[in-house]
Amino acid sequence: MPVQLRSERSPCAGRRAAGASGCCVRREWDVAGGGEVAMADKISIVVNGKAVEVRKGVRLLDAVREAGASVPTLCRHKDLMPLGSCRLCLCEVECEGRTELVTACDYVVEGPLAVVTDSAEVVRHRKTLAELYLGRWPNVPAVKAIARRAGVSESRFVGEFTDPEPKSCILCGRCAAACEEFVLECIVGFAGRGMERHVAMPFHQVDPHCIGCTSCAHVCPTGAIEIVDDLNRPVDPRKIQSAGMRVNAELATLDKSQCRMREMGTLNILQVMDKYDLLPVHNFQYGCHPDAKKIYGTVFRDQYPPQGLADGCWPGCSMACAKTADGFELKTGPYKGQRVTVDGPEYETGGGCANMGCFDPHFVLEFNFYCDTYGIDTISASTVVAFVMEAFEAGIITTHDTGGLVLKFGACDETLEMLHQMARGKGFGVLVGQGVRWLKERWIEEGRGDPQFLRDIGMEAKGLEYSQYVSKESLAQQCGYTMAIKGPQHDEAWLIFMDMVNNQLPTFELKAEALYYFPLWRTWFGLMGLCKLLWNDVVPADNYKEKEPHKIPGHVRNYFKYFEGMTGIPLDEGKMLDQSARVYNLQRCMSYMLGKGTREADLPPYRAVGPVTAKEYESRAERYDKQLRELLGIDPTGMSTAEKMARLRAHREEQYGKTMDVVYRRRGWNRNGVPTLARLKELGIDLPEIVALVADAQEPEA
Ligand code: SF4
Ligand code: SF4
Ligand code: FES
Repeated sequence: MPVQLRSERSPCAGRRAAGASGCCVRREWDVAGGGEVAMADKISIVVNGKAVEVRKGVRLLDAVREAGASVPTLCRHKDLMPLGSCRLCLCEVECEGRTELVTACDYVVEGPLAVVTDSAEVVRHRKTLAELYLGRWPNVPAVKAIARRAGVSESRFVGEFTDPEPKSCILCGRCAAACEEFVLECIVGFAGRGMERHVAMPFHQVDPHCIGCTSCAHVCPTGAIEIVDDLNRPVDPRKIQSAGMRVNAELATLDKSQCRMREMGTLNILQVMDKYDLLPVHNFQYGCHPDAKKIYGTVFRDQYPPQGLADGCWPGCSMACAKTADGFELKTGPYKGQRVTVDGPEYETGGGCANMGCFDPHFVLEFNFYCDTYGIDTISASTVVAFVMEAFEAGIITTHDTGGLVLKFGACDETLEMLHQMARGKGFGVLVGQGVRWLKERWIEEGRGDPQFLRDIGMEAKGLEYSQYVSKESLAQQCGYTMAIKGPQHDEAWLIFMDMVNNQLPTFELKAEALYYFPLWRTWFGLMGLCKLLWNDVVPADNYKEKEPHKIPGHVRNYFKYFEGMTGIPLDEGKMLDQSARVYNLQRCMSYMLGKGTREADLPPYRAVGPVTAKEYESRAERYDKQLRELLGIDPTGMSTAEKMARLRAHREEQYGKTMDVVYRRRGWNRNGVPTLARLKELGIDLPEIVALVADAQEPEA
């Protein structure tokens, strides 16, 4: 009989309880090929009498197909782990003097062997199987095709269990595997025994965890599954389904060898940032630290259950990047001694703790928990605390100001106390809670320290604290952060990967173009309510072949497909950019109205651009000296660090200014960073109310 699954809610309704998918025993992609873990060794095997070279660890089915042999399959699906349930792929294998029949789809080739795909024994078994299938499900097209191929037209096994439905379930198991491997759920599965075996949701009830993603229906070889109640009412459900299946398949097969989001969530990035000297340490002074490994994603995965499992912030999301720590015992604050569930940590929280010099995983979770509980953003909190710590170490503030707290880098207990003070509305924490801009202006006003130093190290722009990436060595990221309309927010941070990790923006022109395209692309995600992680965290295996690989065009097209399936409106890059640019320019006009949408507001603190202190310069002296030599033609030999820093600073600030000019032109803004009336008109948003916002900032045409 066909299987009818009812989904009670749309894919984006509500949060799934942490660790609720823990019932899944996940099988691993542990062999070479097809998105699996690559193995370097080649071995020689014999396929139907012909010697061929294959990768050690490859599945036998893939090996024989590569050698040109044809083997029937029913339960195998290219994006799922082999199930070995239909038995149709039987082959005869001779290995170490023993001959046996094996299912080729799940047989791993570990050493030399000889395989025959159509021996008399194999053919006999396949015929029997085909007859059995035909006897039970005579009208299912996939079964009829298998029978035809085996030369079977009638079955001896017709009887009371014969099911004449053409869309019957043939018990292959693909649907259950798809639910488990793609969406990390175990909602659909087998029930009953023997001839009563069938596919169902638990206890034959509508399972509220089913998100109606249709993965199970998509992989079903017979069309047995029908999803009812598609609450989103898309114009073209098939288009949506195929866009979603691409995501599911890539995550199931590629994530493990790329980001390991499903295992560690976004915290996997911390290790990468540390390696590439991009992890903020001690208020963005440095980009790595020997103790950073104590808070790598692997530590949380291994030490704090159920980290490592796929819980996910959206039920059924196949990336499942959100992680939790259950049963975590708090050491401080109003809930001291209680065991709680911590929602995190994400990369930015871990990065923020590195920025404060706090490399204790327990602190990371406690900080994470209390920030969430108090409604404080972990990014802003850690950036402002790191700023305070540097000011403390520089003697700008003392224990007299902090109420006795010794706020040096790495002061975990003091940081937590300050956080509790912020929440209680008492003590020094209250001042810290006002943010970097407020503190820096106050301290300058009070005549504490060197005002320029405070401006240089206060990591905020437009009043927003910097998120946790060191942008000093990436011109693209410096502009990406500071020129963002609402300031250096974390979802502007992907340029750092393109520029510094993947080296995809080597020229000035590419950087400038990226600063036009990517903020609009990011805005589009926001407008559509779509998650961006699926765009660039795991990339298609053949992305390197694309003309503009940094845009990950395959995924961009997939998002367009989703949009089209939902709305029925065709979309391409030009239309997407226009949709976004209308909103982006409106936002910029409003930002101007609020006094922030100008060139001055787009300027970063120097710490975001280059080394502020001599110690900072000297920590990367080799790199900076090289730049002086190669970019400026200056021989640094014999120059003082202060002189070298001044020359580097002048150069970097000039580069930043030049980039701003190019980007403003590309965006259709004037030299002060305000949208021109011509641009507003071009976008069709030259409404009198909007024009009035920026009328006084217009410049005469050059
Ligand atoms: S694969 Fe998707 S639609 Fe099918 S049972 Fe699982 S969650 Fe529901
Ligand atoms: S995928 Fe296989 S087991 Fe699941 S409903 Fe379809 S035929 Fe039955
Ligand atoms: S395809 Fe190998 S057992 Fe089904």
